[in-house]
Amino acid sequence: MTGEAKIYKNYIDGEWVESATGETFENRNPADTSDLIGLFQKSDKRDVDAAVAAARKAYKKWRLVPAPKRGELILKLALWMKEHKEELAREATREMGKILAETRGDVQEGIDMGIFISGEGRRFYGETTPSELPNKFAMSIRQSIGVCGLITPWNFPMAIPTWKMFPALLCGNTVVIKPATFTPMTVVNLIKGCEAVGIPKGVVNMVTGNGSMVGEPITNHPDVDLVSFTGSSAVGKHINSACAPDFKRVCLEMGGKNAMIVMDDAKLDLAVDGALWGAFGTTGQRCTATSRCLVQRKVYNEFLSSLASRAKSLKVGNGLDESVEMGPAIDGDQLKKDLEYVGIGKEEGARLVLGGNRLTGGDYDKGFFMEPTIFADVKPTMRIAREEIFGPVLSVIPFDTLEEAVDIVNQSEYGLSGSVYTQDVNVAFTAMRDIYTGLFYVNAPTIGAENHLPFGGTKATGNGHREAGSQCLDMFSEWKAVYVDFSGSLQRAQIDTDDIVKVEN
Ligand code: UN1
Repeated sequence: MTGEAKIYKNYIDGEWVESATGETFENRNPADTSDLIGLFQKSDKRDVDAAVAAARKAYKKWRLVPAPKRGELILKLALWMKEHKEELAREATREMGKILAETRGDVQEGIDMGIFISGEGRRFYGETTPSELPNKFAMSIRQSIGVCGLITPWNFPMAIPTWKMFPALLCGNTVVIKPATFTPMTVVNLIKGCEAVGIPKGVVNMVTGNGSMVGEPITNHPDVDLVSFTGSSAVGKHINSACAPDFKRVCLEMGGKNAMIVMDDAKLDLAVDGALWGAFGTTGQRCTATSRCLVQRKVYNEFLSSLASRAKSLKVGNGLDESVEMGPAIDGDQLKKDLEYVGIGKEEGARLVLGGNRLTGGDYDKGFFMEPTIFADVKPTMRIAREEIFGPVLSVIPFDTLEEAVDIVNQSEYGLSGSVYTQDVNVAFTAMRDIYTGLFYVNAPTIGAENHLPFGGTKATGNGHREAGSQCLDMFSEWKAVYVDFSGSLQRAQIDTDDIVKVEN
């Protein structure tokens, strides 16, 4: 079978090229491992060096292209994606496993990002402000940074690359992108779009391969000015340290242990719908996934039994089948980890109310499928309530008061997303104010962020940057304060200011 597999190349300086290693790696469908998607370049430092050199060269001219024109090219790319949305989504489901409705959403998120950020090219606002001295002009402008290394994850194989690539380009930077090894096809497709709309050569470069052979040399490269990474907190910590000695700008989006609070006045059917979507959508493989559900004691049993019966009927299978509601884990290791957490939950004394097993038999044997899994009576201190699992495993925790629930939510080392279900506006606003996360929802689950608002989290989720929203411009540009003195004489700020306020006729 490998003999017939299509070989995909790196994209460097506007050319599709083989890796210096001459080696490739396989990309297989996690729902059906007999489905080989293709062979991708197993690149190393030499390929990264070539890509960075191309990006550096292209940067000289790209940074001078007016931002509105850079924005127009990104808009063209977004429209190209819209035209190809269905094929892009199908290929993404094939390599990533999540259901078609979700990969359509993933591609749409990329389109939205393109439409949104292209408009920023015609704003790209700085400030003008009076100087404290006469005949002097003061303003602030954004400037580009240089070459950006983008290291992207597999769970949103299209959206997250666009969150990074589009604003990086809009701000006048050039990029080298390393897609996740599980999902290089989707980024290859995005690069094809870059080619189709005429993004100049060298402005966007792609090198496929693993973290140690490609991610590491990008991070350590002296000519890479910024590294933007989405993935695990462990890898993010490593990248952060690697970038520290050179003060390289590093933007990190990492783990979550997101909680939904269900108050006893909540519309329970709505909350159950939300918990199902938040916990089992994307097979729980979102950094925003609802992995803790805190339920007020009065409605605890009713909520739990309704949730369990709905989750039990979720159809698990190959995401290319439109009737399927939950796809596989991304690979055998992730599935193993999910199942290990089931064991950990049981050992810790949590009550397994649903699932917990690998799905086997028939087509299930071809992929990495698992039952939607729910633990009840989970204590906030248990590992299943604290550690990010990244699988379809939900911990349900009872509580008595809102104050107690907020405390439990905030005990997490992460701070990406939170939500509350209530009909009481006072409770909604109190929870919104007191939960320390980067995203917060009222009467909706913890997933589903939109592109024109800032995305990111507090504590171990990030390092203070935000993706998307107009805030993402701060990630990919540097401020420059500019003073223009047209007085014709030396004027000293803070010193020659004493006599200025004389108003004499
Ligand atoms: C992620 O899981 O890394 O808010 C991103 C959401 C999506 C993005 C998730 N729009 O759930």
